[in-house]
Amino acid sequence: MPGIVLVGAQWGDEGKGKITDLIAPDFSYVVRYQGGNNAGHTVIADGKTLALHLIPSGIMYPSITPVIGNGCVIDPHVLIEEMDMLEREGFSTERLIISAKAHLIMPYHLDLDAASEKSLGKNEIGTTKRGIGPAYMDKAARLGIRVQDLLDPAIFKLKVEAALEEKNRVLDKLYGLPTYTAEAICAEFEPIAKRLIPHIANVTTLLNDALAAQEYVLFEGAQGTLLDIDHGTYPFVTSSSCTAGGATIGSGVGPTAINKVLGIAKAYITRVGSGPFPTELFDEVGETLATVGGEYGTTTGRLRRCGWYDAVIVRYAAEVNGLTDLCITKLDVLSAVDTIKVCVAYEHEGKRYTTVPDTQTAFHHATPIYEELPGWKCDITACRSFEELPQEAQDYIVYIEKLAGVPVSMVAVGPSREQTIVRGWGV
Ligand code: GDP
Ligand code: IMO
Ligand code: MG
Repeated sequence: MPGIVLVGAQWGDEGKGKITDLIAPDFSYVVRYQGGNNAGHTVIADGKTLALHLIPSGIMYPSITPVIGNGCVIDPHVLIEEMDMLEREGFSTERLIISAKAHLIMPYHLDLDAASEKSLGKNEIGTTKRGIGPAYMDKAARLGIRVQDLLDPAIFKLKVEAALEEKNRVLDKLYGLPTYTAEAICAEFEPIAKRLIPHIANVTTLLNDALAAQEYVLFEGAQGTLLDIDHGTYPFVTSSSCTAGGATIGSGVGPTAINKVLGIAKAYITRVGSGPFPTELFDEVGETLATVGGEYGTTTGRLRRCGWYDAVIVRYAAEVNGLTDLCITKLDVLSAVDTIKVCVAYEHEGKRYTTVPDTQTAFHHATPIYEELPGWKCDITACRSFEELPQEAQDYIVYIEKLAGVPVSMVAVGPSREQTIVRGWGV
């Protein structure tokens, strides 16, 4: 079955949007399977730079059906804004399909995200404050409002009333915030329902039929392996399954539908928000990576924390996702540094770790053990084949490939589609 999953192998922002957009023409469907508008995927298409938060990065190709799967949480205001933006830019959103089983981010989820972060004080997670965590909490608590509830105003109202029973008490008594009425929310959602109903479909059947007909389906992950609710740096994670397994749960296809898993990793590493980060740089090298790499969040505009490539993390990502291929992005950014360091292991209390430690305490206090490699100090953004890269850059890729135990089948040397070296990738 020709299903391929694309996942972030680090803490997000690895360049998933660019690579999805690059390989999308080989697919009939591109499916987002988790997360919501906490994601920010930058795509440069036809000379236009687009920031996509909810709609899959394949939307720019008329041959592709973009799908938002059941594993996603959807802020309908953001979705409609994004659809309008794409239409203004000349890209049709008519083909967009939304799973009837996906959950909606409700206005109170935004309030609860902000209030919960505030109450955590210095222990805050540094969320995107987009209501993601509270929406997934309601899903698990069986108080969620789903996309299919938009189909019937009476059912929608009943569900909202049931949710507000609890939400209003929490908003008022716990946080001292204004409460909501079901009537006001129903009025707010009436035009939303009108706009979104034509896009609602049974995604599970659609994708299984497509796969059975040998059509190619690309599952586009959001966030990254280390932000996964189970396998990430809990509690400093997002609230969904970003790893490859999430693609099956978040879309309704079985694991046998997946035959390749492409991990995306930067040639260094970044993180937004709080949480442990062993190879984080606090010196001018970190500043150089941030400046040259343009490391500002696509969603929140926050400065991303930057550090050296961590091979322990990517090896872990290879394991938990079952990576068959690796794509290294932003290699061009390393042209700015003299010597490059790669973290090959950690040390904590006299013990050497070559895999991510099982306890958060050990990971928090892990000291990176580095190997140094020479830099290449020249512009590589025009290189289009592996052989055109300077020897030091080739050696760097071969080195991290060996450490990951996964073939590096693509290397990106700039943000646009054509600034990519394909080295053995094929669907
Ligand atoms: P995503 O969330 O994984 O899709 O990544 P983002 O779009 O949030 O962040 C990646 C940023 O790096 C975007 O601004 C991309 O345009 C840019 N980018 C992607 N690949 C490359 C590359 O190889 N070189 C450079 N210089 N920029 C890149
Ligand atoms: P893409 O898809 C980087 C981070 C937030 C915060 C944590 C929890 O563009 O790679 P949330 O709002 O999800 O509850 O926040 O997760 N985070 C991301 N960091 N890239 C992302 O998405 C992220 N989505 C969430 O900064 O630390
Ligand atoms: Mg991003």
